[in-house]
Amino acid sequence: MTNATLKFGDKELELPMMSPTVGPDVIDIQKLYAQGGVFTYDPGFTSTASCQSNITFIDGNKGELLYRGYPIDQLAEKSHFLEVCYLLLYGELPTSEQLSDFVPRVTRHTMLHEQMAYFYRGFRRDAPPMAVVCGVMGALSSFYHDSTDITDPEQREIASIRMIAKIPTITAWAYKYSIGQPFVYPKNELDYTSNFLHMCFSVPAEKYVVDPILSRAMDRIFTLHADHEQNASTSTVRLAGSSGANPFACIAAGVACLWGPAHGGANEAALNMLREIGTVDRIPEYIARAKDKSDPFRLMGFGHRVYKNFDPRAKVMKESADEVLGLMGIENNPTLQVAKELERIALSDPYFIEKKLYPNVDFYSGIILDAMGFPSSMFTPIFALARTVGWIAQWKEMISDPTQKIGRPRQLYTGATFRDYVDVEKR
Ligand code: SDX
Repeated sequence: MTNATLKFGDKELELPMMSPTVGPDVIDIQKLYAQGGVFTYDPGFTSTASCQSNITFIDGNKGELLYRGYPIDQLAEKSHFLEVCYLLLYGELPTSEQLSDFVPRVTRHTMLHEQMAYFYRGFRRDAPPMAVVCGVMGALSSFYHDSTDITDPEQREIASIRMIAKIPTITAWAYKYSIGQPFVYPKNELDYTSNFLHMCFSVPAEKYVVDPILSRAMDRIFTLHADHEQNASTSTVRLAGSSGANPFACIAAGVACLWGPAHGGANEAALNMLREIGTVDRIPEYIARAKDKSDPFRLMGFGHRVYKNFDPRAKVMKESADEVLGLMGIENNPTLQVAKELERIALSDPYFIEKKLYPNVDFYSGIILDAMGFPSSMFTPIFALARTVGWIAQWKEMISDPTQKIGRPRQLYTGATFRDYVDVEKR
């Protein structure tokens, strides 16, 4: 690989370049400060690779998302979430024997320590479920001392399986707690996703049969959200993990970051926006607001740092919304109609075309989750449930990288230079 030559002031530096298997080349600037006495400046990491990874790749121009090389639309159609978990964690699609071993390892860790139920009761009933999920995930570290030594690969594996297995129970219990219904324990005879729906929607008073159509749609939503390169929450998990923090604390940090409306909170914000628009005739008013620089309003569920073409997950999600709502006999759902018309109008508007703003994964997901019976406060917790495996895969990759060190960015300091303290009577 050739070097990049950097000239500034009286200096001329040769910086090594590195090539990926796919995507842009990178300039290795690790020695830039030592050799050149300067930092680079990239506060939003728009042009900065924070790590080397072989898990997920996004081609923002082609609208392509690959998990270990496999395109997301094929996985959403042909695979299922636990198989995708195996792929993200271990790098290859499992053989039937490997899958037969993996699934029960997850299934047998779905229960929470009974003491956890009391932890939930410390929250107000009207606490946002994201607050509960974030707190409970962090609290897991107080229950599993036997799997917090991150230097032990076996303990890393146990902690990983435990979090993938328990996050549906944690999330379902946060929902049950918020609606004042009793916690429902996992049932091992159900598959991963059906178990989640069962824990959310069954009540002790009557038999509940999981609708296979909803379970398939939910499973597809989990797959679509499982991982996404070095997004904000994954970068948070990596940075937390780089200090040697225990895995439960790192994933709790990821949950906290995902909560923001610019990130995982956008699915709830998008549905609330579609409901606020209410009818197709009010769409132009909101399109105008989204284009008005003096108005902080943005079309939630639109735009993306990487995708400058359609988000392939949004395409699959839109097809799934049509299928699920059609099968539920609510294809004329007014919110879905507003979403489709908003997408059509926005994508023909020069502003959105010029800024390459397309619907992202959050634009249609809320419509499906709402149709399934989830309140919008559960949309981001469900995103966190699905993304847990991605966070774990990225965390494991970082921890097992012998060259990794604690993340410690520098800064462009623009504050006061040295000055002596002034006594209060002299100020
Ligand atoms: C997720 O990183 C990931 O991979 C995240 C994610 C994942 O799977 O982990 O994909 C999940 O977080 C999806 C994104 C969900 N967020 C939203 O839907 C919120 C609405 N979207 C925007 O906030 C925004 O598009 C971001 C945050 C998603 C991306 O922001 P960027 O890359 O920093 O882009 P930007 O804010 O610099 O916008 C570029 C231009 C700006 O105009 P100019 O300053 O150039 O004049 O586009 C405009 C923005 O004003 N713009 C929008 C817009 N998004 C960007 N204008 C109107 N509506 C929008 N939604």
